[in-house]
Amino acid sequence: MLLIKNGSIVKNNQLIKKDILIEDDLIKEVADEINFDCETIDAKGCLVMPGAVDVHVHFREPGFEKKETILTGTKAAAKGGFTAVMPMPNLNPFPDCYENLKVEMDIINKDSVIDCYPYATVTVAEKDEKMADINGVAKYVKAITDDGRGVNSLDILKHACYLAKKYNIIVASHAEDNVYKYDPKGEYVAVKREIEIAKETMCKYHFCHMSTKESFEYIKKAKADGYKNITCEVAPHHLLLSSDMIKDGNWKMNPPLRSKDDVNATVNALIDGTADMVASDHAPHTKEEKEVEYSKALNGIIGIETSIPLIYTYFVKTNKISLDRFMDLFVYNPNRIFNLGNRYLEKGYVADIAILDISNLHKYSVDEIVSKGKNTPFIGYELYGFNKCTIKDGKIIYKVN
Ligand code: DOR
Ligand code: ZN
Ligand code: ZN
Repeated sequence: MLLIKNGSIVKNNQLIKKDILIEDDLIKEVADEINFDCETIDAKGCLVMPGAVDVHVHFREPGFEKKETILTGTKAAAKGGFTAVMPMPNLNPFPDCYENLKVEMDIINKDSVIDCYPYATVTVAEKDEKMADINGVAKYVKAITDDGRGVNSLDILKHACYLAKKYNIIVASHAEDNVYKYDPKGEYVAVKREIEIAKETMCKYHFCHMSTKESFEYIKKAKADGYKNITCEVAPHHLLLSSDMIKDGNWKMNPPLRSKDDVNATVNALIDGTADMVASDHAPHTKEEKEVEYSKALNGIIGIETSIPLIYTYFVKTNKISLDRFMDLFVYNPNRIFNLGNRYLEKGYVADIAILDISNLHKYSVDEIVSKGKNTPFIGYELYGFNKCTIKDGKIIYKVN
């Protein structure tokens, strides 16, 4: 048995004091006060929530183990308060057929400390030339994507969407037009045409890391027209940083940091519900790959250890978004949209839990980073809401001493 005492859970937009008793892998009781002689976690001053979900992480294994592995990535996720993640398929081998996907799934089965749902690719080796063996992988994945680059072969994309519809899996899009590339236009031109494909095929279509004003306008309009199959995520860095703040390679990612106007539009999407979830696009790289001239640095920043405290501090604490919305963004929406099975802090549900310290400021330092990647622009930020304990299937998998 495991008891979480004196914490608060979110109910009807409010923090309500509750104790939570866990037996084996399940929540046994949630009540105003529980006393039981067993291992006890003091959650005074903390927000106790279902384990968070990040649908967009790069864990680099198989293929790029110097940057991250399934083990180090899932441990970093556990530190960040996440009990479910979806690793991206820009790997070696690319999970573009069952045989290649199995390489990744075997590592996940062996090493992952949390739930890990791998993406398969849309095209063979993400080359945008030939469709991947979606029929062969569909029953093992929740979603497919060519993240890292956009699919510009629209016939292939459409075919993939029809298959995704048939198998009830999501197509996730790194929307990027090959001509305009990193320009804002590169994103929204792709979003516009892909919305048409999503409407025609009616598959579940999810836009990754949306970052321009026009993209949100298109998505908002599609949603208002009733296309519930279209969803999107935003990343903390696009909500908090703009292009004028770029210092070095640790401020470089794709989509890149945008204008202040685009940042405002991203914030509005977070507030008005156009954004369905927050995802970090956790993208670790080695020191050698990042600590070089800006133009030579690889795209990507780590984010899974700071996603929750950044959103909590800048949007919940400041009352820009509600506590319910915070829960939707990190737990309920990703679980529902990606069909991951839901998690509630209620009797009978699996005990996947994060305990956030929302009472004390903590200064983020490079020494505490669990990920192999140290490439983040958020070092030195003082934030509320860092996770201090993660429980997965009833067992403590991360705890601050
Ligand atoms: O910044 C990024 N990093 N954007 C991507 O699309 C890919 C990712 C990576 O794999 O490093
Ligand atoms: Zn991407
Ligand atoms: Zn990505």
